Amino acid sequence: MIKFSDILLDRRTIRKYSSGPVDDKLLNELLVMGCRASTTGNMQVYSIVITRDEQKKKELAPFHFNQKMITEAPVILTFCADFNRFNKWCLLRKAEPGYDNFLSFMTGAIDALLVAQTVCMAAESKGLGICYIGTTTYNAHKIIGLLNLPKGVVPVTTVTLGWPAEKPDQIDRLPLEAVIHKETYKDYSNMDIEKYYKEKEKRTDSQQFVIENNKGTLAQVFTDIRYKKADNVYFSNILLKVLKEQGFMEQ
Ligand SMILES: Cc1cc2nc3c(=O)[nH]c(=O)nc-3n(C[C@H](O)[C@H](O)[C@H](O)COP(=O)(O)O)c2cc1C
Repeated sequence: MIKFSDILLDRRTIRKYSSGPVDDKLLNELLVMGCRASTTGNMQVYSIVITRDEQKKKELAPFHFNQKMITEAPVILTFCADFNRFNKWCLLRKAEPGYDNFLSFMTGAIDALLVAQTVCMAAESKGLGICYIGTTTYNAHKIIGLLNLPKGVVPVTTVTLGWPAEKPDQIDRLPLEAVIHKETYKDYSNMDIEKYYKEKEKRTDSQQFVIENNKGTLAQVFTDIRYKKADNVYFSNILLKVLKEQGFMEQ
């Protein structure tokens, strides 16, 4: 039996999956464990859409910029902030819901992410591999159409799930002291930044990344290629429109 602490410490994202099936019983077990996650006021303002159908995966893939995990993984889970169900319950019980605002979207999004991460840990504890797919928030409007998500529901993240067909090297993290602040936030001097990012920048894979992308520094790979301002602004505006359409910006 592998210790839970080892599962957490040894994990890595898995992007290649074997053809081994993830049966409904196992998936159900993971989802039951996931739904034990903490949830705001025990409201469970989230929903999880399971995609197994090959045709549906093919239709979903372009909305995730054709990342191959979407069509290759046996199971795709789309985690949504969801006030639709809760609002309906309130109305049916003569209670006036006040959840048509941005704070409520954040509440649903936080709940959805907590359940997602708990499902991921449950999956990894069973030897399954997972990959988060961040493009969900870029193309939320298209995913809403395909998955038939009603008003009050916004997809916030996607996870691909399957039996690992690879064991990539673990990738780095910043030293713990870089992300921890004791009692109050201590802002970073240039020297701190130099110190905390030194190891990351020194890594062969980082240097390779800079060369492949024809850039001068690793930070430029992020700002100019991977997470560009123009893209961030473009997709932010789309997401704000989605939040409005889904009824979270009424107040
Ligand atoms: C919210 C979120 C979105 C992510 N989106 C993607 C993605 O779209 N494609 C991908 O290949 N990996 C994605 N990842 C995985 C990260 O790239 C990965 O977790 C990170 O590089 C650290 O690697 P590790 O999980 O193996 O430690 C995402 C992770 C998170 C938390």
